[in-house]
Amino acid sequence: MPDQAEGLRQLVRRLNVQGPRPRPDEPAPGRRARTVAVTGGKGGVGKSSLAANLGLALAAAGRRTLLVDADLGLASADLLLGVRPRATLAEVALDGLEVREALVPVAPRLDLLPGASGVADLADLTPVARQTLIASLAGLDGEYDVLLVDTAAGAGEQVRAFLRAADRVLAVTTPDPAAVTDAYALFKLLAAEGHRGLGLTVNMARSEDEGARVAGRIAQVARRYLGAEIELLGSVPFDWQAAAAVRARRPLLTAAPFAPASHAVRRIGERLKSWALPAVREGERGGLMAWLAGCCNA
Ligand SMILES: Nc1ncnc2c1ncn2[C@@H]1O[C@H](COP(=O)(O)OP(=O)(O)O)[C@@H](O)[C@H]1O
Ligand SMILES: [Mg+2]
Repeated sequence: MPDQAEGLRQLVRRLNVQGPRPRPDEPAPGRRARTVAVTGGKGGVGKSSLAANLGLALAAAGRRTLLVDADLGLASADLLLGVRPRATLAEVALDGLEVREALVPVAPRLDLLPGASGVADLADLTPVARQTLIASLAGLDGEYDVLLVDTAAGAGEQVRAFLRAADRVLAVTTPDPAAVTDAYALFKLLAAEGHRGLGLTVNMARSEDEGARVAGRIAQVARRYLGAEIELLGSVPFDWQAAAAVRARRPLLTAAPFAPASHAVRRIGERLKSWALPAVREGERGGLMAWLAGCCNA
């Protein structure tokens, strides 16, 4: 919607004028935060665990990362990271709380915008609340290199609205046929809409071989029947330490940095760095603003 896009641009200009002075490590002009939505058609495949730990991996690798817990039905990033939210995305949207008041520092270069369980969806927020959220997040553009968004399960219109506008969509599946079917269905919908930033990771693989086989098969079918190229970012093995970390409310990468799953997450983080952050040209589709405009207009 051009009207809203123009409104957003004006808002950003205004916020930028009033915003903090750029830090010395500010990205070059024209670079914006890239949005990577971590998703998957099915619940319980490990989207939130992966998003939280990828956030840590990216931050450790030098990317200024904001993890947004957008699974408003079942927010969990704060629990997975072992941090205590002072406020959530809901207060930012509904009560006009300054977004920086809600950000929780998790690690050097990693902040979390906690989600609010029980708010069914961003789309359930009133238009005024959505505008408030847009304004708040728009003021953060340029302060992060990557915006990692943990989404709810499913391929409903609202989740897709997020995905459509994200620069990159990282679908998570397990080798389970039901999860594979859901991931493929998601790719089908997004490919039909012309999305070109599709990636896949297989979680809870019983071996590296199994992970590669499952991912390869999905990519092959997507190429043949959807004409879509799926970037394969690697697999994460089934690892009891991953489940133990969740129970202990500590991020896997901190609780068990040498666990097989931790090594795998760091490898995916390395690939994500180049996949998610190509040179950004002015006027290129995407970025934080496009994501916000897309998900909030839906
Ligand atoms: N690599 C893994 N190995 C073993 N268990 C895992 C792994 N990744 C996630 N889990 C388990 O799966 C559960 C669901 O993960 P979660 O990230 O909440 O999934 P989702 O966000 O997709 O619903 C976690 O509580 C954790 O115990
Ligand atoms: Mg989740």
